[in-house]
Amino acid sequence: MSERVFDFCWFFMLNEENLKLIRMNKNELSEMLLRDGFAKVQYPASLRLAVSNFVKAWKGFVGQSLEHKMQISFLGNGGYENKDPKIDSKLVDFKEDFHINRSYDFPTDFKQTAEDATFLAAGHTLFNEIRPVSHLIAEMLSEVTGVDFVKLAVEKEDGWVIRALWYPPQENNILAAYHPDKSGHTVHLFDSVPGFERFWEGEWKSMSFPETEAVFFPGMLGQYYSECKVKALAHRVVSSPESRSKGRVSIVLFTDYANGLMKYDKDKWGPTQQLLAPGQNYTMPFEEFNKYFTERPSVIDSR
Ligand SMILES: [Fe+2]
Repeated sequence: MSERVFDFCWFFMLNEENLKLIRMNKNELSEMLLRDGFAKVQYPASLRLAVSNFVKAWKGFVGQSLEHKMQISFLGNGGYENKDPKIDSKLVDFKEDFHINRSYDFPTDFKQTAEDATFLAAGHTLFNEIRPVSHLIAEMLSEVTGVDFVKLAVEKEDGWVIRALWYPPQENNILAAYHPDKSGHTVHLFDSVPGFERFWEGEWKSMSFPETEAVFFPGMLGQYYSECKVKALAHRVVSSPESRSKGRVSIVLFTDYANGLMKYDKDKWGPTQQLLAPGQNYTMPFEEFNKYFTERPSVIDSR
């Protein structure tokens, strides 16, 4: 049996029951995406468990010394980042994060702790559990736009990156400056405290993430490939009494379209934080919007 046929069977055998309800509501979710700029997908129970384990493992990892974590700084397909505007004035947000893609492993000379090993294993488990949900989202985007997002997003998973974020307790009123994500679409899996907001219909609106639902929304590349039929959702994170006292953990999946030729031109335009006024891209014609994109090189930088 080829690997592809096996994957197809695995997808239906293990997840069809969990996904049946979501499939029935696909039209409703498509409408929600166009109306609200995002859509919600019910978490399969196995994914919920994988997210919960990954959150615990991330807390264990991030609690280790900075010196230890810096040994596995970001390299191409994953790794740790410590972003502190006091150290690097070009940075806007104060946070720590870790990227894991499907093939990420620690460098061979890295001395793993139990926390490191647990974190990496939980990341790979989460990767497997998110696969059917990502597939479904790509199907939904295809329906809405008439563009083959399954081919763009699913056939080659090299562009999928799980990002774990930790915003230490801080006095900043804005934890994450507003931006659209640059990837194809984002699946927002977990937020430990309130504060996430989206810009829609001319104002900032708060969003909550119930334990049983994941939220997804298009990024810049999703808007590009849909020729502006769906919009890269502008979002930000504001502080709350909880984030000021306890900090904030967030888990997302960025789905880049590694099977597509184009990518956001970060070298030319820089980070997407504050690149556009919030919502400016919602009314931008495709002929103008496409200036932000360039052909992708063979190596993907997920940041
Ligand atoms: Fe984002």
